[in-house]
Amino acid sequence: MKSLLIRNARILTLGSSELPRRGAELRDLGVIPQGDVLIEAGRIAAVGPNINIPDTPDTINAAGRVLMPGFVDCHTHACWAGDRLAEWEMKLRGVPYLEILQAGGGIHSTVRAVRASSETQLAAGLRTRLDAMLRGGTTTVEVKSGYGLSTEAELKMLLAIRHAARDWPGLVIPTALLGHAYEGDFEEFVERTITETLPQLRYEFPGLTVDAFCEKGAWTVDACVRLFEEAARRGHPCRVHVDQFNSLGMLREALRLEARSVDHLEATADADIALLGQSRSYGVILPCTGFHTDGRYARGRTLVDTGAALALATNCNPGSAPTHSMPFAIALAVRHCGLTPAEAITACTINAAALLHRNDRGRIERGLRADLILLAHKDERQLAYELGGNPVDLVICGGRVVG
Ligand code: NIG
Repeated sequence: MKSLLIRNARILTLGSSELPRRGAELRDLGVIPQGDVLIEAGRIAAVGPNINIPDTPDTINAAGRVLMPGFVDCHTHACWAGDRLAEWEMKLRGVPYLEILQAGGGIHSTVRAVRASSETQLAAGLRTRLDAMLRGGTTTVEVKSGYGLSTEAELKMLLAIRHAARDWPGLVIPTALLGHAYEGDFEEFVERTITETLPQLRYEFPGLTVDAFCEKGAWTVDACVRLFEEAARRGHPCRVHVDQFNSLGMLREALRLEARSVDHLEATADADIALLGQSRSYGVILPCTGFHTDGRYARGRTLVDTGAALALATNCNPGSAPTHSMPFAIALAVRHCGLTPAEAITACTINAAALLHRNDRGRIERGLRADLILLAHKDERQLAYELGGNPVDLVICGGRVVG
């Protein structure tokens, strides 16, 4: 692999500090105002104000533009089939998200489309979305299953995610969202998930993170706790969708169970935010969801000020966040969650990578994987300021220019 030298960039190194970043550390982008980055064998070989080696025909002159780590989108449901356009029109006429779900639509309508699709079809749809993500600067992405609601269909989704990831230049991290909704009798569904799906998951995907949606009309707190305790016994860490519409008490249980993250948090009470701030679990905010559904947002400012390990993601999915754009998520987090642009950038690079246990990325430091993006702008605040465009001029993944 050829080496690559990028000169004259405003470099956001995101420095070295303890992981995850919390509080004021979220605002430290570790800026080198004008510097160079040398990439060799897919890794960052040097970074500094002036790397003293000769230019080659492959040297890229950044001309003062921002060079930063590729985005790490740590919460998506980007593997799906079908569309939710008819439901979206209902929603525009005022029908709430949970009402559509309880009437057998929402997640269930995507479940029907996913079951009717082959693994190859699912992988092809996901691959198209992954390519769009890459063009927008996302080089690492978590993708959940959750539209199967049966052992067979959940495993089909996970295999499709693995399949789509195979020759994608970035990294895809699958998560088994086994408790996304339920069909038929709830207790029987939970029992089947725990006694049938979980053992199969362990066999096919050992150690994979397990997730659930704790909400009225979806999974109860008790069922989530049972699922996560059984999953932990089999070596699966957990993450959980909490407090999206209703605060049911799952957040405290998740902290007790040492969940890797609690995601959504739009309806989280102050006292729970304070507990999260003192815990080791990450808080993941998903502002594209409030923008698309009902204008409610997680209180990012309070999360930062109480010391939470904050991460920011798109939540890319057909129902509540039909977007794959991290710059759009940043723009919304700054406008509606009270983050500064720097905090938002840290939350979707270094912190999101740490959440996913991928500490070889999310920073620009010697020895780390060279997943970098060159923005069209000379000031990173433009990422948050600009709406609806693609601020990314160049994407470098594993040391190769891929877009
Ligand atoms: O995180 N709320 C649960 N899951 C997704 C939405 C999935 C869907 O509506 O298809 C979310 O918002």
